[in-house]
Amino acid sequence: MLKDWSDVYLIGVPEIDQQHQGFFVASHRLYEGILDRDGKAAVGPAIAFMREYAEEHFQTEEAFMREHDYPGIKDHLRQHVAFFKRLDELENDLMIFGPSQDLADRALDITQDWLIDHIADEDMLYALHVKAGVA
Ligand SMILES: [Fe+2]
Repeated sequence: MLKDWSDVYLIGVPEIDQQHQGFFVASHRLYEGILDRDGKAAVGPAIAFMREYAEEHFQTEEAFMREHDYPGIKDHLRQHVAFFKRLDELENDLMIFGPSQDLADRALDITQDWLIDHIADEDMLYALHVKAGVA
């Protein structure tokens, strides 16, 4: 089942929350494309968005973690690298085999399973660390 945006994903940093919400919109757009049996057309733009999103968003997060001396930054950045690896695979397959329904399904899996879990678990951890420091 498709995960919808919910306030449980709010980490309390407006700029980052806004980026996370934009990501849900893109994930839903891809899902709608797949439902319309149009995943083949939707997957190229979705992958391009994921690249642009990840580069900008991860930089924002990294700067935030450094600014607040987050001790878990190394593990967190390792996860961002792992995401880029999966994205590289999608881009390679798109380039070699072209867009397909199967590729759209795989891209959706990554947006739904990997990134949303990452927001709920890992991003929440650095936010809690900063909040604890402020309190
Ligand atoms: Fe992150």
